[in-house]
Amino acid sequence: MHGEKFITLGIETSCDETSVAVLAGRDELLCNLVASQVELYARFGGIVPELAARQHEAKLNPLLEAALDEAGIGLHEIDLIGVTVGPGLAVSLGVGIACARMLSTLLEVPCVGVSHLLGHLMANFMVEEEPELPAVCLLASGGHTEIFRMETPLEVERLGGTIDDAAGEAFDKVARMLGLGYPGGPAVENASSGVRNVKFRFPRPMLNREDHDFSFSGLKTAVLNYVKKNPDEPAAHIATAFQEAAVEVMVEKTVRAALENGANQIMVCGGVAANGHLRKRITERCSGEGISCSVPPLELCTDNAGMIARTAFEVNIADRKSHPLVPVPNLLI
Ligand code: KG4
Ligand code: ZN
Repeated sequence: MHGEKFITLGIETSCDETSVAVLAGRDELLCNLVASQVELYARFGGIVPELAARQHEAKLNPLLEAALDEAGIGLHEIDLIGVTVGPGLAVSLGVGIACARMLSTLLEVPCVGVSHLLGHLMANFMVEEEPELPAVCLLASGGHTEIFRMETPLEVERLGGTIDDAAGEAFDKVARMLGLGYPGGPAVENASSGVRNVKFRFPRPMLNREDHDFSFSGLKTAVLNYVKKNPDEPAAHIATAFQEAAVEVMVEKTVRAALENGANQIMVCGGVAANGHLRKRITERCSGEGISCSVPPLELCTDNAGMIARTAFEVNIADRKSHPLVPVPNLLI
């Protein structure tokens, strides 16, 4: 306990971001530190699992010290630990889990194994005006593009998702084709900013299907074919046309899922939710349909331990069962 406040420590190492957060009570995020490895992978154009695990090992302890320092709390004031157990890279997840287990034993406090996906969804509640439930949620990240229906923050049902590449993965691959750098999402967004009236368009895969599934692999191939046939077309135009296609499919299918599921609230989360075009388009579409729309602030969209701490807090207070404290690379939710 810190004063009167229940303290939750969050640890996130599922992919290429090492993150430690300290949450006081339900809402007060005392700190949410993220050490990114992005620069390291710019050379390879993508994440290298063994390198990522070594980076987590090197960065986690100093980050933990810095987080406690910034939050102004001592180790013994921690009441609960939340750690991501999946989905993610097994070797990376293992680093965070080992650290959380050791702290939990040492401090004699419980440790909750958290789904990274539920963490992303929970980020939508870490704002002043909480979304109303039931909600339909679009989770778009480097590894996932899923639509969920949320009844309560811990009761979540998957309605559909990508049958091949994730949206973030498509942004990353298209950026690589266009020589825009890594990570691709922000690179594509930057290249597209200020571009108007591109004269060609890419297909909108699965837009007219009645399910809640996505496919981004065909869109990626369409971009590749276009690049080969039109070597003189500026990368910025191709990036813009790709972003418009990917965003339109995500926005339209999410709005349709909300209307079909009687949800008056849409939540968007995951790294791709940092995309300005997606944020703008979904907000406009929702207001046209009379649906409320919530998108977390940028720092809570991309991977961070704050969302993991908040999820652990909710699981603990609701007396729900924790996921086992072992890496589960393909954990669903
Ligand atoms: O949620 P996240 O940080 O990590 C995973 O759980 O995967 O998402 C990372 C993904 C990457 O593919 C990255 O390119 C994408 O999110 N991303 C973006 C933007 N910022 C990050 N995609 C589009 N526009 C952005 N501004
Ligand atoms: Zn993520």
